[in-house]
Amino acid sequence: MSDTIKYLLSEEKLPKAWYNINADLPVPLDPVLHPGTKAPITPDDLAPLFPRAVIEQEISTEREIEIPEPVRAVLRQWRPSPLFRARRLEQALDTPARIYYKYEGVSPAGSHKPNTAIAQAFYNREEGVKRITTETGAGQWGSSLALAGAFFGLEVLVYMVRVSFQQKPYRRALMESYGATCLPSPSDTTQAGRAILAAHPDSTGSLGIAISEAVEAAAQRADTKYALGSVLNHVLLHQTVIGLEAQQQMDLAGDYPDLIIGCTGGGSNFAGLAFPFLGERLRENRKIEFIAVEPSACPTLTKGKFAYDFGDTAHLTPLVKMYTLGSGFVPPGFHAGGLRYHGMAPQVSHLTKLGYIQPRAYNQLECFAAGLQFARSEGIIPAPEANHAVRAAIQEAERCREAGESKCILFNLSGHGHFDMQAYTDYLAGTLKDLQYDETEVAMALAGLPSGC
Ligand SMILES: Cc1ncc(COP(=O)(O)O)c(C=O)c1O
Repeated sequence: MSDTIKYLLSEEKLPKAWYNINADLPVPLDPVLHPGTKAPITPDDLAPLFPRAVIEQEISTEREIEIPEPVRAVLRQWRPSPLFRARRLEQALDTPARIYYKYEGVSPAGSHKPNTAIAQAFYNREEGVKRITTETGAGQWGSSLALAGAFFGLEVLVYMVRVSFQQKPYRRALMESYGATCLPSPSDTTQAGRAILAAHPDSTGSLGIAISEAVEAAAQRADTKYALGSVLNHVLLHQTVIGLEAQQQMDLAGDYPDLIIGCTGGGSNFAGLAFPFLGERLRENRKIEFIAVEPSACPTLTKGKFAYDFGDTAHLTPLVKMYTLGSGFVPPGFHAGGLRYHGMAPQVSHLTKLGYIQPRAYNQLECFAAGLQFARSEGIIPAPEANHAVRAAIQEAERCREAGESKCILFNLSGHGHFDMQAYTDYLAGTLKDLQYDETEVAMALAGLPSGC
C-alpha cells in the first residue's frame, strides 16, 4: 500500500481527563522555591500570577484530572487530532520501520499550543480575570492564547521575542486578527525590557526576557494574570490529550510504539505525547524509549546543568530545578523560535536525569532538509520546531534500515509551518546557516546560577 493511512477517533473518544505524571514518578520532583526566601513556595505565592484551579493542578499528584466540559467543547472543534502512518515516507526511506505521527497542526492556530491555551483561558475567565499577558517565541503560543482569549472574552497582551517579531510578521497579524495586542520584546513598556534595551539596544530578545516583561505587566494590574505556554506542570498536563488520543489510535492501528520522539523547547508537546506512554512504562514496565530533540544552538538538555534556576531573565519567577543554560543566556536567532528557551520543563528534566528520556540535538540545516523530505512524502510543511522531531524520526528509520530492524516509531508533528515560509525560502535559496551558540556566554550565564538552593 502506498498511500498515507489516517487513524481517526470519533469525537466521543476525546479524553475526559488529563494524565498527571506526578502520580507515577519514581522519585518526586524537587520543590519549587520562592526567589527571595528560597523556601518552597505556597499556592498563595503564585496567586497573583495564576488562577487557583491552575495552581492546584501545578501541585497535584492525582493521576487523572477532569477536563471541564466547556474546555472539551472547544477542543472538539479539531480534536481528536489525526494520527497518520507515514507510508510514503517509509517507502522513500526504504525502511522496515513503521513510522507514525500525531498531527497537531489541525488546530485553528496551527499547533498543539491551543490545548493548554483554551484550558488556561477558561480557568481565568471562571475566576473573573479580564486580561492575560504572555510571551511568545515563534508566535505559535501567542496566537493560541489570542484565539483562546477571543473564545472566552479575555483581553490578551503578548510580548513577542523581537527576532521572531521581525521574522514572522504574519504570526503577529494572526494575533491581532484574534483581537490581541502584540509587542516586540524587549520593549520599553516594562522595567525589565528597558533595562535590557539600555544594556543591549540591538537585543534580538529571548523567551526569558519576554517572560520577565509579561510577568511584570501582569503584576501591574489586579484584573490581569499571566499565562505560560510551556515548562510548568499544568501546561504539560493539558497537553496529555495528545498522548491519550495516540494510545487509542495506536490500538486502532494494531501497533505499539518502540520509540516516541518530540521536539523540546520548554517540553510541552514532547510531554503531551510521551507522558501517557511513559506512565505505562513506569507503572507496567513496558519497553519503550523516549527521545527529546532540541536545537544544537540552544542545547538545554544535552549541554545544560541540572540546577535550580529562574524561568526568566529579570528573575521575577520562582526557582525551579531543571536543565538550564542559565537565565541570562540569549540563544542565536535560528528559525525554530519556539525552541529558543534557556530552561526545560522540570518534569522533563527530572525524567531525563533519571534516565527515562534520551536527549539529542541537531543543527537547523539538517532539520530543514528533513522537513522538506517529509513535506515531499507526506504533503505537510512542518513548523521549524517540529522539523527537529522529523529529523530524529528519519534518522531512527535509517538506522532500522541499516540494522534490518522493524521498529515502530511515533513522533509528534507539533505544528505546521505555513507562517514560516520565509525560513523555507531562505533554506531553498541556500542562505540559511547553522548557528552556533556562544560557549563563553553560556559559561557566564551558568556562573550566575542562584546560590544557596
Ligand atoms: C510548533 C511548535 N512546536 C514546538 C514548540 C516548542 O514548545 P514545547 O517544547 O513547549 O512544545 C513550539 C513553541 O512555540 C511550537 O510552536
